[in-house]
Amino acid sequence: MNSSIPIAIIGTGIAGLSAAQALQSAGYNVQLFDKSRGSGGRMASKRSDAGALDLGAQYFTARDRRFVEVVQQWQARGWASQWQPSLYNYRDGELSASPDEQVRWVGSPRMSAITRAMLGALPVKFSCRITEVYRGEHHWSLQDAESQSHGPFSHVVIAMPAPQATTLLAAAPKLAAAAASVSMDPTWAVALSFASPLDTRVEGCFVQDSALDWLARSTSKPGRDNSNDTWILHATSQWSRQHIDLAKEQVIEHLHGAFAELIGCAVPAPTFTLAHRWLYARPSAAHQLGALADADLGLYACGDWCLSGRVEGAWLSGQEAARKLLEHMQ
Ligand code: FAD
Ligand code: NAI
Repeated sequence: MNSSIPIAIIGTGIAGLSAAQALQSAGYNVQLFDKSRGSGGRMASKRSDAGALDLGAQYFTARDRRFVEVVQQWQARGWASQWQPSLYNYRDGELSASPDEQVRWVGSPRMSAITRAMLGALPVKFSCRITEVYRGEHHWSLQDAESQSHGPFSHVVIAMPAPQATTLLAAAPKLAAAAASVSMDPTWAVALSFASPLDTRVEGCFVQDSALDWLARSTSKPGRDNSNDTWILHATSQWSRQHIDLAKEQVIEHLHGAFAELIGCAVPAPTFTLAHRWLYARPSAAHQLGALADADLGLYACGDWCLSGRVEGAWLSGQEAARKLLEHMQ
């Protein structure tokens, strides 16, 4: 082991876990924290009466060579599978088949399988919301929402959406300012479950000119519970922002209506519904920040918002944070 004093990583989404794996492989101790009860962040899957629901990331693509290689390893280990949906496009009130050659991946049997496997036996504290990151004479400490202190840590990696990272980066004003300059858009997600399969070939659809942006038939993904016909609907950033404080029942009613209007077949009353609001779903624009670093202080930040705002960008950003940290240790 390189140092007995661990590196703190705040956030167990794909970016935090990517950094954690890289640092652990280089021989460092890490200690992870997450405010949620489990890992995955926006790649988490929610357990429900309709089975596990991928309410956040729907699938991911791999374009960077390093990410392609790691996804192939995930596939070989059974954590990820290819998803080949029957894809449609909805535009100007018309639904049309829109097949393509793009390889799309999903966690198997649910999206969270990947982050769960990446976490493995790494030390983690869940249900622990970090509210402050502060530096003593030699080391870092963290304070959580219950006023508990954690530490000492040699370095801190902050791996969460930019607006949440900003406050924790107060010790490095330049990094805090960079994070504060990134705005993130919300997404309302709705799950609808039907007792019998809807009479449509659609399994995924890119939607234009609607409150909806995307819809997916969960049961078409490999390894999912298919005792019901379950769909995930995502509203556009614009609709989500305009209806940010709408009651969940009304969000479900509205998006169910938009779905029924475009899907082109009879839509009965769902047997199960659920709405989830992602306040910081995606960066409003793509950035090329890689990862933020104040190497002298030992403070780093990573996440999808540093790159493409996708699963791949988040993983690459975690790698970049780890690379910068390790570079400074040499
Ligand atoms: P996150 O996954 O957000 O992880 C951050 C973690 O930090 C969370 O677990 C959170 O609980 C924790 N945290 C935050 N604050 C604190 C704190 N103070 N203390 C402790 N822990 C904290 N990408 C694609 O590639 N394809 C898609 O189809 C796709 N669809 C999407 C659909 C939706 C609705 C959403 C929301 C996202 C989608 N994305 C998609 C984007 C993708 O999910 C993200 O890019 C990626 O998961 C971000 O990973 P991350 O590690 O950067 O952040
Ligand atoms: P991708 O290559 O499948 O899609 C990229 C974009 O290309 C799509 O959004 C769509 O507009 C278009 N597209 C791709 N294939 C198409 C087809 N067959 N027919 C019509 N249009 C098609 O995947 P990539 O680049 O990995 O992007 C990830 C996806 O995740 C995007 O759809 C993005 O919108 C979505 N996302 C959603 C978030 C949210 O909060 N709702 C957050 C981050 C990503």
